[in-house]
Formats: sequence, structure tokens, C-alpha cells
Amino acid sequence: MRQNYGLDINPLTDVVICCGQSEAFAAAIFAAINQGDEVLLFDPAYETYESCIALAGGIPVYVPLDPPYWTLNVDKLMKSFTSRTKAVVLNSPHNPTGKVFSKEELQAIAGACCKMDCFAITDEVYEYITFDMQKHISIATLPGMQERTVITSSLSKTFSVTGWRIGWACAPASIASAIRSIHVKITDSAPAPFQEAAVTALQSPPAYFKFLKAEYEAKRDFVVQMLSSLGFQIRFKPQGSVFVFAELPENWLLSDLEFVTELIENAGVAAVPGCGFFHADPNVQEYRNRYVRFAFCKSEATLNAAAQKMGELCKLQRMPGSLIRKKILE
Ligand SMILES: Cc1ncc(COP(=O)(O)O)c(C=O)c1O
Repeated sequence: MRQNYGLDINPLTDVVICCGQSEAFAAAIFAAINQGDEVLLFDPAYETYESCIALAGGIPVYVPLDPPYWTLNVDKLMKSFTSRTKAVVLNSPHNPTGKVFSKEELQAIAGACCKMDCFAITDEVYEYITFDMQKHISIATLPGMQERTVITSSLSKTFSVTGWRIGWACAPASIASAIRSIHVKITDSAPAPFQEAAVTALQSPPAYFKFLKAEYEAKRDFVVQMLSSLGFQIRFKPQGSVFVFAELPENWLLSDLEFVTELIENAGVAAVPGCGFFHADPNVQEYRNRYVRFAFCKSEATLNAAAQKMGELCKLQRMPGSLIRKKILE
């Protein structure tokens, strides 16, 4: 934390090692949120946040990011705060869009948190996976924020070890202590052998982190190019994470769910329908059934095979009986 972000964190009091970011986040929410507290989230959002907030008795309030670039409208953000707002959840680099929040956007969120006396609870699991010279900034580094930020992250994505279940929460000592008490009640301890391994992993030389970015950037470029050649609209090229959030081709009338079903059943390729990430009023989000999330954290061989199978499926759309074709003809 000191080396990457210049944050002065006491390892004995300000850090809680958990079973992945998932547990760190849940424990942070249980520590910070009481019955009836409102928690702001940016929409679209990773699915697990809302469940944790609901389990804690909190009320999720979504602030939509504006497509196609998923920009933050500061006016919408400010209007979402009430006297009951207790925290803002911030995930950057962002799942599902691949957005990296800009310094200006983070300053606006930080200013609002300070003004409204709220916590920021972050999910920074993709902190090392950023592209095109984009740099991840932790909101905790902005003025007035360290004392009100809970950073959560993990080994899962940086070292491709999602099954090791090592994550952490870094927070001011008083809230870290509450998170630790909850962590002890939920899981008692994260796996000890993998904590030892984490020490080695986190001391990897800079070349490892450079390689990680370069490798994923090449995979991002491959998938963006492949999807564009099939007619997908990718106006926003992911700046980080391992996802492309692609808009269905303009002339396809089928929904995200119909396309993904067709893709799984007829091409053997799994993607996630965008509707699972959107939460705001469907009447306002007319685009909620138009996006599909593709993950590119796969080997080159798997990505090539998926590209070939998707290409074949898209050719098949011209054949009778294809759902895609039926929809086009409608
Ligand atoms: C945004 C985000 N946060 C957290 C996680 C889960 O992280 P962990 O394995 O550390 O629990 C994921 C996994 O897909 C994710 O995409």
C-alpha cells in the first residue's frame, strides 16, 4: 500500500486478511451498514454488492453510469445522496464495463463523501489490470479520504488464483477492528498456506506486473477486434479488468439473454447477459437488454477456439431455423 499508493497503513491494526475480496467486502458492509442505511452503487454493477447490502439491512441506491462511455454524471450522483446515505461502493477498474474511473470522477465522489460524511467502500481487485497507460488510483489517496475509506482487494485476479481465497480489507483501525470481529465470526481465518504464498506473490518484481498488463491488453485487443468483425458495437474499449461489455449488433432484434442462450447452446461459448448487471428502472435503461459481457481471462488457444465457434454461429444466422435469423426477419 505504501509502495503503490503512498498510503501509510499500520499492518497490525489497519489490515484484515479475509477469504477473498468477497468476504472482505461482506464483512466491511456488515461493519459499516445498519438497518435502513442507504448505500450508493454505480450501475451497471458486479452482482454481489447488492446481496451483501440487503443482508445487512441496508438499502441499495443505484446511480446510473451513462453509456456508451459509462461516464459519471456528477449531478445524478449528488441528487442520490440523502441524510441516510452511509457509504458509496466504488469498483474501479470496473466489472462489467472495464471502465477505470478518472481522477476527476474520483475527486467528485471523494468531495461528496467528505461533504456528506460517508464511507467509500472500494473493490480494487483489478488494480493491476489496466491498459493504454491508464493508471489505477485508489480513492483513499485523495484528500480527506483515507480516514473514511475501506479498500478491499485480493490475490485472485492479479495472480490468477481465484481458488486460493486470499483477500483483504484496509481501513482505519476502528473500522478494521469491527471488520476483523465479523471476519472471525464468518470464516475465522483465511487459508494459512496461501497467506504464506501471498507474501511471496506480492513481492513479485515489477516485471511481473508489467507482463500481466501486456498479456491482458493483447487479449483485450484480440477480443475487441473479433467482436467488432462480427458486428458488435464496441464504442467503449475497456481501460482495465478482464471484460469487454459489448453492445449487440444494431440490426439484431434478439435480446442479450436470447443471444447468450444461442451462444451457449449452439457454439459452446459462455458469456453473461448484460441485464444481470443493471439495476435501475428498466423504463429509463432502454439499453439494459443490449449488452453482453465477454471475459478474456482465458488462454490464447481457448480465445481462438471461441472466436472460431462464434464466427461459425454468426454465419449460421443466415440459415433457416436460427433464432438470430428469426429475430432479424421479424
Ligand atoms: C469486481 C469483482 N470483485 C470481486 C470479485 C471476487 O474476488 P475474490 O475472488 O477475491 O473474492 C470478482 C470476481 O469475479 C470481481 O469481478
